[in-house]
Amino acid sequence: MNEPNALAWDAPSLADAYRGRFRVGAAVNTWNLDPASEACAAILRQFDILTLENESKPMYVQPEEGHFVFDKLDRFAAFGEAHGIDLRGHTLVWHGQVPMWFFEGEGGAPASKDRLLDRMRTHISTVVSRYRGKIATWDVLNEVLRDEGGLRESQWYKIAGRDYIPEAFLAAHEADPDARLLINDYNLESSEAKADTMISLVEELRGEGIPLGGVGLQMHLSLFTDLDLLRKNVHKIADLRKIDPALRLEATELDISCYRFGDTAEDIDWTPEIEADFRAKYTEIFRVLCALADEGALDTVVFWGLSDAVSWLNGFPRRHRNYPLLIGRGWRVKPAFYDVLALAGNKEA
Ligand code: G3I
Repeated sequence: MNEPNALAWDAPSLADAYRGRFRVGAAVNTWNLDPASEACAAILRQFDILTLENESKPMYVQPEEGHFVFDKLDRFAAFGEAHGIDLRGHTLVWHGQVPMWFFEGEGGAPASKDRLLDRMRTHISTVVSRYRGKIATWDVLNEVLRDEGGLRESQWYKIAGRDYIPEAFLAAHEADPDARLLINDYNLESSEAKADTMISLVEELRGEGIPLGGVGLQMHLSLFTDLDLLRKNVHKIADLRKIDPALRLEATELDISCYRFGDTAEDIDWTPEIEADFRAKYTEIFRVLCALADEGALDTVVFWGLSDAVSWLNGFPRRHRNYPLLIGRGWRVKPAFYDVLALAGNKEA
């Protein structure tokens, strides 16, 4: 029943509707997994794949060298197993939310390249092997590219050069040869230079025999996203399957902000005009995702957050009210939710 504004746990299930085309998921936090919570009811109804929004990042998993903290990830893994929900690991190597000790050597000097790569391998192999068979996909590398093209000059790059990139995949593959290993980034949809760098990097890595399973398109979009450019870029990236048909795309962090990227404007109200624009944008994006899925290029779509109430976009780049997801405040699904639901049954979409 398509009741407007239904609660997320009473509304039809997006995951059920898209099953066979792609998995539908969300980023969550472990406190959302409490069986008595509304969040948990929404998860179990709507999603068949989950990512931890923050708690599996290195600053939480290995806050000090050699001191691993697995309680949150263990809980996540147990929840996935108990409910038959697939899990994504996010993330192993990133310039954000990584403790500084990774990059520190003796007496305030930077770590040597060998030391940094050893630390990286230890982190990856300890974490990935513990969840072997439980977490089937890893965002091994997160945001290693610059928006203007080229590799990001992060601490990883400054110390280890490009070598940390293949080494990260090799370590993850050794720890779980069956896991899908992704390189994940934002603005691949909106920067041609960044999309082109991603394509050449993946081609190079596959040419070197590196066990890379595909590309994560974060898809932090906005009402201002240029859809023609988005289509061009994502289809170009999907063409990587010509060099390796096993490569897959995943939409890993989907949301649609009503502010331009980086806009520090005060609160925008949710007007009928904005809602119409939002519905049209979500419909077009899901058309693109369905087309990619139908050509075998994409099998996973994950929203970044459970509902508008908890989206990171209410706090970035400043605290302002945002409405980027299909589940609104108070757990009510939006009209755009039903637009997206309706597309699931339409193979011509
Ligand atoms: O851990 C502290 C906590 O101790 C403190 O009480 C609280 C007070 O604000 O802050 C907590 O840290 C916050 C952390 O999330 C955990 O909740 C940080 O301030 C906050 O900046 C951090 O934001 C996260 C952000 O990554 C960090 O860059 C967002 O929740 C998370 O949604 C976001 O996710 C990233 C993806 O991993 C990669 N792609 C982009 C995406 C959006 O930025």
